[in-house]
Amino acid sequence: MSDKVYIFDTTLRDGEQVPGCQLNTQEKIEVARQLESLGVDIIEAGFPISSPGDFQSVVAISKAVSNPTICALTRAVEKDIKVAAEALQYAKHPRIHTGIGASDYHIQHKFNSTRDKIIERGVAAVKYAKTLVEDIEFYAEDAGRADNAFLAKMIEAVIAAGATVVNIPDTTGYCLPHEYGAKIKYLMDHVSNIDKAIISCHCHNDLGMATANTIAGVMNGARQVEVTINGIGERAGNTSLEEVAMVLKTHKLGFETGIITPKIYPLSMLVSKMMRMPIQPNKAIVGRNAFAHSSGIHQDGVLKNRENYEIIAPEDVGVPKNSIILTARSGRHALKYHLGRLGYTFTTEELSEIYERFLLMADGKKDVDDDDLLSLMDGTKQTGSIELDQLQVTCGTSATPTATLALKLGGEIAKASEMGNGPVNAAFRAVDRILGEVIELEEYLVQSNINRSFDTAKVHLRINHNNKSYVGFGTDTDIVAASVKAYLNAINKISTLTKKYLVEEVAAS
Ligand code: KIV
Ligand code: ZN
Repeated sequence: MSDKVYIFDTTLRDGEQVPGCQLNTQEKIEVARQLESLGVDIIEAGFPISSPGDFQSVVAISKAVSNPTICALTRAVEKDIKVAAEALQYAKHPRIHTGIGASDYHIQHKFNSTRDKIIERGVAAVKYAKTLVEDIEFYAEDAGRADNAFLAKMIEAVIAAGATVVNIPDTTGYCLPHEYGAKIKYLMDHVSNIDKAIISCHCHNDLGMATANTIAGVMNGARQVEVTINGIGERAGNTSLEEVAMVLKTHKLGFETGIITPKIYPLSMLVSKMMRMPIQPNKAIVGRNAFAHSSGIHQDGVLKNRENYEIIAPEDVGVPKNSIILTARSGRHALKYHLGRLGYTFTTEELSEIYERFLLMADGKKDVDDDDLLSLMDGTKQTGSIELDQLQVTCGTSATPTATLALKLGGEIAKASEMGNGPVNAAFRAVDRILGEVIELEEYLVQSNINRSFDTAKVHLRINHNNKSYVGFGTDTDIVAASVKAYLNAINKISTLTKKYLVEEVAAS
């Protein structure tokens, strides 16, 4: 039988500490509900003493979800613990997470104290918390750099004081996997009362080893992992939930979690969008390219048997399907697959001829999508004809952002003016008004190309229309114009939409 590994999610505490990622209470409730349905065991809902907003969020989350344990963070300070217990009063399963520094760096340079006094403070905090709540987790901050013998002494003392879970954070992301694993084993072997508590891993990703360290911890005796969705968190982030859950599922190591893995991807998208933190395209499990195969050899291999190049089925983590992306490097097999999907079948000779035309087309493009393939088939350009004709924006600290733009729809020009919360938002709203559609913006990223004489803005974005995502790219020396071009580039890929406008235009002319 497999051993259960408890999933402790700290997206709403350690993750939310990232500058610019703050959520309001309503958004936190939404994320908490999704975490509950994903199957996490513990939700760290906030640090109640830190702000009235955090206090309120812990109260609201405690009321909104019932299955997971709701945890609140404190320092080893009575006032913090009292406030945390108040915030947790509605939680069905409350937990207080208290602790103090364990490395000599922290003991000497943060607390200006001694090892013995620090243990006393930790024990006092646990004892006080235990008078308010039964389930107490103790964190030994910077345990990754702490002396193992001292750490064992501290952990033994806090378990004796009533801690039910002991968290061994690699706060600075310093440890190597074998070192972190050995630290957990040392505690398993040298803490006499370790059978009375669960060891928890809390690893940061400063050297890119958070997941490896966490797995090493589990393999050496830890049975709780502290993780965030998409690995968000301070600096380089925390251990990512999706990576740990999929490592434990993919490798038969004898562990199981309660995570319902097909719910991973939708929640990853929700968190990325709410926290305005785009996911790097090559991010393991949830990145846009995590299941995309673009080289001819790989595409051919995946089409013959998915397992040739994929260790996880995309559906297993909620990614709709594997994306065999067509580029100038794709082979005949991939082209045949996509044309087959669109209902076309060809003889080998016919396919060779189409393949030559496909290469000519693909050479001038980043990737080839369904609309491009359709136009390749009948020689009729289906899409790509909604263009920016003119754009004018007013914005600044004392003006209401307003955009007036004209679009070329086939042979016609259509104009609209809209206000927004910024010039880009106003311009997108003006496009929506002309098209009579509200298009959902899922991701928006601006980068700059700095030349000596001028700067060029490059905009990558993703929109959603009828539950399908479309990416767009635009570039211009004007950031708003680059944004509108990217928006139209994505819109031009929605064949139903472009057909609707362009066919109507042609019919009207
Ligand atoms: O990284 C860390 O040490 C923490 C503790 C407060 C648990 O986040
Ligand atoms: Zn942390």
